[in-house]
Order: sequence, then C-alpha cells, then structure tokens
Amino acid sequence: MGLFFFSRSWCIILVISLSQSLVVKTNTTAAASSLTTSYSSHPLHRHDSKSLASFFHDYASKTVVRVTTAVNYKIRLPANFTGMQLRFVRFRTPSLRRRGGQFGSFYVPPRVLSAFPMEARRIAIVYENLGNWSNSYYKVPNYTLVAPIIGFSVYDSPAKAPGGLVVGDERISLSVQPGKKPIVIKFKKIDKDLKESPLKCVKFSDDGSYEIESMTVPNRCFATSQGHFSVLFSTISSTTSPLPSKARHKVYLKWWLTGFGGGFAGVVLLVLLSTVVFKIVRDRRLRAMEKQSECGVLFDTFSVGKSKMPSAPMVRTQPVIEHDYVA
Ligand SMILES: *[C@@H]1O[C@H](CO)[C@@H](O)[C@H](O)[C@H]1NC(C)=O
Ligand SMILES: *[C@@H]1O[C@H](CO)[C@@H](O)[C@H](O)[C@H]1NC(C)=O
Ligand SMILES: *[C@@H]1O[C@H](CO)[C@@H](O)[C@H](O)[C@H]1NC(C)=O
Ligand SMILES: *[C@@H]1O[C@H](CO)[C@@H](O)[C@H](O)[C@H]1NC(C)=O
Repeated sequence: MGLFFFSRSWCIILVISLSQSLVVKTNTTAAASSLTTSYSSHPLHRHDSKSLASFFHDYASKTVVRVTTAVNYKIRLPANFTGMQLRFVRFRTPSLRRRGGQFGSFYVPPRVLSAFPMEARRIAIVYENLGNWSNSYYKVPNYTLVAPIIGFSVYDSPAKAPGGLVVGDERISLSVQPGKKPIVIKFKKIDKDLKESPLKCVKFSDDGSYEIESMTVPNRCFATSQGHFSVLFSTISSTTSPLPSKARHKVYLKWWLTGFGGGFAGVVLLVLLSTVVFKIVRDRRLRAMEKQSECGVLFDTFSVGKSKMPSAPMVRTQPVIEHDYVA
C-alpha cells in the first residue's frame, strides 16, 4: 500500500541513494583497514618501544661519562628525536633507599625500596618523556592517551674513576617493598579537552604488557617498580565526549558494522526514510522558489511532472512558510 507512494522518480532517487551509501561504505572500509594496519605494524614503522629503550640505554652509556651523584642531567638527543627528552641521574643505592629521591616526574619516598644486589653500590637511572612521540610508541586498544609517556629504567653504574662506565649494561630491578608507600608519578600536562571522562593510569612493563588502574589522586599515578607510565581514558564507555579522530573513526566504524549486521532491510528502510525527508525538503524548496520567483513556470513544470498537485494550493495559504523564506 505504502509503495504506491513511490512513483518512478522515487525509484530513481532510491537507487541513487543506495549507490551513494555504498560509496560511503567502501570509503569507510578503506579507512578502517588503514587504521588496523597502523596499529599492528610496529616493525614496519620502526616505532618499537623496546628498541627505543635499548637505544636510550646505549646512547646514555656512550654520552654520560662524568657526573655528580644525585644530580639530574639532560642528555642531548640526535635531531630526529626532537620532541623527546632523555635525562639521567645517578644514585648511591644506600642513600636512595634511606632518603628517597626525586628525578623528573618521579618521586621515591624514603625507606620503601627493596634491597639492591650487593654489587650495585650505585645505580644509573635513565628516564625519558616521549612527548609528541608517545602515541607512536605506545598504544592501548580502546583507550586514548591524554598525557605523554614517561618512563625510567635502572642500570648498574660501575664507574669509580672519571672516564669509567657511568651507565652500565646490567639492568637492575628497582621495586617497592610490599605494603610500603609507592613511587609517585606526577603528570603536569594532561590534555584538558578530554578530561570529562574518568582518567586512568597505565603502566607498561618492559615486555610490552600493560596494567590500567583508576586515577585516585588528580594528576598522580603510583607504581611499585620501573616501567613506562601515562594517563588515558576509555574510548568505549564515553562515546558522547569529544574523541580524537582515530578513536572517533573506530566508533563510527563500529556503528556502521552494527548497522550492517541489522540487515539489508534496515538499510533499505533508512534509505526510504531519507528519501521521504528529501522529498519534504525539496517540496519546501519548490514552494519557496515559487513564492520568490512569482513566475510559476518552474513550479508548474515540477508539479505536473511529480503529480503532486494537491500540495501546491495549500501552501499558498500558509503565511508561516512564506515568512520563513522571505525573511
Ligand atoms: C570516497 O573516496 C574518494 C577518494 O578517496 C573521494 O574522492 C570521494 O569523495 C569519497 N566519497 C565519499 C562519498 O566520501
Ligand atoms: C633517527 O635516526 C636513526 C639513524 O638513522 C634511527 O636509528 C632512529 O630510529 C631515528 N629516530 C627516530 C625517532 O626515528
Ligand atoms: C614532534 O615534534 C617535533 C618538533 O617539535 C617534530 O620534529 C617531530 O617530527 C614530531 N614527532 C612526531 C611523531 O610527530
Ligand atoms: C575493545 O572493545 C571491543 C568492543 O567493546 C572489544 O570487543 C575488544 O575486545 C576490546 N579490545 C581490547 C583489547 O580490550
């Protein structure tokens, strides 16, 4: 019964709309596949957090030759690392355990650390801020980072005399004793535009695995061992808040996929609905054109062609619509 409504011209519009929606689909699919590639092709892009960490270690051990204990040093990186910051500090381990220490955004409270190996009388802490490179090296599916990745690694520091090795090759595990106060990580720069949804702390371990926890103190995260840290929020629970474009694309893709799962009937229904809306809008426009041109020729042609005679006289008596378009 309702199908009577659709004359030949409606069929044409329907076909056009369908083909248009198919074009949109191919485009979305293309965007989606490129998105997936960028997520899974670390080796191709050379944006591998493990090799970056080992580069930082090698670079620091070559660059740092003479230091004062408990003083923070900035290490100049090659030009193509612009945007990242690499720093260094050396501690005497008994002192660090007894008095605690501060390096960059990290604070180790006094008397919390587990004992270091006997031979590690001094340790070298290499710590970094990945700045605008953070997203290239660390990704968490379904989450968006809102702060740069910061991290630290601990090495032995064997040098006694100047010129000796300050950053050694042996990785030392620094950890807080169970039940003691944790290491505090302070995030100064959190992307404020994205702050509405609950923020979470993420810790990446050296093997690439990560843990996510709620942020209990504003701009602070806590840790019991070394690693890389940042702040993020879930892109799944908060579809209403503004998302960065990548996340938004993912959400749109999901919506579209869900729509497709709904079946072809749903798509057709959608197309029919949109054509009805299109018809209403076009009719209004035609009425407006008629009013404005006062020519009538244009209107006549259309009204005959689409056989919508009854609607025309009614419109003439409606002042509301006239106002809309004259004003
Ligand atoms: C689809 O993509 C092509 C090329 O990327 C573009 O020219 C075209 O406008 C896109 N179509 C739609 C409907 O977005
Ligand atoms: C900078 O260049 C070096 C040598 O070409 C390369 O190993 C390194 O990965 C580059 N750095 C970045 C951040 O891509
Ligand atoms: C980060 O910013 C620097 C300039 O400040 C730029 O040279 C570099 O390419 C940027 N890195 C990324 C991954 O956008
Ligand atoms: C991301 O979210 C989707 C949809 O909720 C879920 O199916 C998927 O397992 C999530 N991925 C991860 C790595 O948690």
